[in-house]
Amino acid sequence: MSHPRNSAPAAADARVPIRIEVRAASGTYPIEIGAGAVARLPQILDEVGAPRRRFIVSTSPVWNRHGDGFAAVSSEAPVLLPDGERHKNIVTVMRIYDALIRASADRACLLIAVGGGVAGDITGFAAATYLRGVPVVQVPTTLLAQVDSAIGGKTGVNHPLGKNLIGAYHQPLAVVVDPLMLATLPRREFRAGLYEVVKYGVIASRPLFDRLAEELPGIFARDPDALVPVVEESCRIKADVVGRDEREAGPRRALNFGHTAGHALEAVTKYRRFRHGEAVAYGMLVAAQLGVMRGTFAPAERDALASLITKMGPLPSVADLPAGDLLQSMGRDKKVVAGRLHFVLPAGIGSTKVVNDVTTDELREALTAIGVRKSDVP
Ligand SMILES: NC(=O)c1ccc[n+]([C@@H]2O[C@H](COP(=O)([O-])OP(=O)(O)OC[C@H]3O[C@@H](n4cnc5c(N)ncnc54)[C@H](O)[C@@H]3O)[C@@H](O)[C@H]2O)c1
Ligand SMILES: [Zn+2]
Repeated sequence: MSHPRNSAPAAADARVPIRIEVRAASGTYPIEIGAGAVARLPQILDEVGAPRRRFIVSTSPVWNRHGDGFAAVSSEAPVLLPDGERHKNIVTVMRIYDALIRASADRACLLIAVGGGVAGDITGFAAATYLRGVPVVQVPTTLLAQVDSAIGGKTGVNHPLGKNLIGAYHQPLAVVVDPLMLATLPRREFRAGLYEVVKYGVIASRPLFDRLAEELPGIFARDPDALVPVVEESCRIKADVVGRDEREAGPRRALNFGHTAGHALEAVTKYRRFRHGEAVAYGMLVAAQLGVMRGTFAPAERDALASLITKMGPLPSVADLPAGDLLQSMGRDKKVVAGRLHFVLPAGIGSTKVVNDVTTDELREALTAIGVRKSDVP
């Protein structure tokens, strides 16, 4: 995929709200981005014609820190979900149904997800299914959720036998992105989201990639002037891809850059060792190495990517993980179509190329190049 815009993200005043329209096949909705955007939530809800009965769904870590900012949005008690990926299941969805049914919520109600990707996915799924569908507004509070999971309408929960196996497409009515909310995010969570921003740079925007490399200290300090432009550019790329390909038939596949090997790393470590973004960081390095081996990516570009990832901070080790286990896990990946592994390779910084003929030997070589343990099986 190559991205049409080559201009650098605008260095506008971080406090001036930015609007991006997501033009999904099932409807158009706004993403509003800006430092302090949450204060405008009541107006935004009116503007998109949101129902008046509004239920906020959040988690305690988020609500304790940011709940005060929502006093003007809803008079209903918030539905607080247990925190963490291990609660991203159908039992937690039931909590939302229970609260809505007890409150006699009819179809003219709105759910507002205030939280990270876990709360957003669960709430979105509850909204997609309660009374066969009620609207949802996403107010993402992690960097990952702001640049990725809150946009695009994928909702769902995990099953004991696999991640995200139960779900529905349900586009939000609006997405409200306030980078000031990231001030309280633990550094490791912040960094995990930032790897997805690196991904957007590699797949679609050289200026974004360069900006990250140049402004890393300001970004890590959560300085809105440094942060808002990279969040904005990431949202634009995600919105653009979703607009062209709501259900992942073609262009949306580029978003899987770094995710094939990344998912395998998460799976073989039982989702305990890596934050998702950390595994994607390694996955991007694997794909970059494959790109170098296939001649689509220059060694200097791979080195620039590796150096940016190194500068961002330490990653959990992969030295003890046998390449064979990862290869086996990749063989079970959703991206295997008719027995062939689809792989998103970088084609220079700012564009990608999907190939479907990556061999086990090539993959093994790329995995060991990033430090995974050599092994002969399978
Ligand atoms: N729907 C999609 O398209 C899509 C895309 C990517 C990822 N996802 C999903 O997103 C989930 C991961 O989301 P995540 O990384 O945001 O994790 P998360 O939702 O678990 O949040 C991480 C932690 O940060 C806390 N937190 C959130 N906001 C905070 C804040 N402002 N200050 C302090 N603490 C805060 C949360 O309570 C949680 O403990 C996964 O389940 C993944 O499957 C979905
Ligand atoms: Zn991801």
